[in-house]
Amino acid sequence: MRKKVLTALRDKQGHWVSGEALALELDVTRTAIWKQIKVLRAEGYVVDTSPGKGYCLSALPDILTEEQVQFGLTTQVFAQEHYFYFREIGSTNDYAKKLASQGYPDGTLVLAEKQTAGRGRRGREWHSGHYQGIYFSLILRPALALREIFRVTPFIALAIAETLQELFGLEPGIKWPNDVLISGRKVAGILTEAATNMDGIDYIIIGIGLNANQQIRDFPEDIRHRATSIREEIKRPVKRVELLQRLLLQLELRYRQLLSGEYNEIIERVRSLSLVIGHDIEVDNGAGKMRGKAIGIDDNGILLLRDPQGNIHNIISGEVLIPPQIS
Ligand code: BTN
Repeated sequence: MRKKVLTALRDKQGHWVSGEALALELDVTRTAIWKQIKVLRAEGYVVDTSPGKGYCLSALPDILTEEQVQFGLTTQVFAQEHYFYFREIGSTNDYAKKLASQGYPDGTLVLAEKQTAGRGRRGREWHSGHYQGIYFSLILRPALALREIFRVTPFIALAIAETLQELFGLEPGIKWPNDVLISGRKVAGILTEAATNMDGIDYIIIGIGLNANQQIRDFPEDIRHRATSIREEIKRPVKRVELLQRLLLQLELRYRQLLSGEYNEIIERVRSLSLVIGHDIEVDNGAGKMRGKAIGIDDNGILLLRDPQGNIHNIISGEVLIPPQIS
């Protein structure tokens, strides 16, 4: 009933529709309609009322429910068939992993308005405040050879950067392998977790944390100096629903390109947005630290580092420090 009333109001969003007409259309009493209007208002929908004119849906809440996001979502697969929404969860990556092991397909989305155990790379915490950022995980089942697995994170970073360019005219850069930065501050992070088997990739979970409407004071004190949000950059709050819709589309477009074998264009774009190539950097790959010059990213998304002795190292993952983070 709630959904029917919402759909009827949405069809005429911004225009008045009489209670009588609604009741007739949905074949219920006017009192039943009024009851549902109160439910919608409690959820954040702004429904104006006027004795002579009836109801008018004038604003939608900025919540990332399936209902809100799928209305106007132009992807073919991503987030269309399987959309799991939580107001609060431990970590969307953990939940998506469970779903993937149960066989959920490519494009399944798990999204939360808040995470109580949001995870970053290397066991770090990912601060995920209520309704401020966008926190989600996608299940991917790409038909790629194992050696191509490192192509995944770069295409995601690219899709995020492109979305911020196109929607807000921002100029983000990519800090290999998985951070998106604006003016040296991190606006988004990606946590990629894969399950492989003898034949190749079983599934990949990509977890994205995008800082949308946070203000600097919303971040934990220790990361304030290196974090930013879209709101901070453009000086106004953003509509997260539109942002997510656009991001999902861009992710899907680039994903299809990856699968169709047109990786060259993706990696070329990644190189052009790279904040690492050409710099003297330090990489910590967990086993130890290495210094050198980042001389490129190869066709499989692997970072090429030239050490002071002139040897070239293939770096498949790690934490990169770029100037001015290193002296
Ligand atoms: C990083 O930069 O270290 C990666 C951050 C990834 C955070 C996202 S938020 C949604 C998903 N669920 C998690 O627990 N982590 C990722």
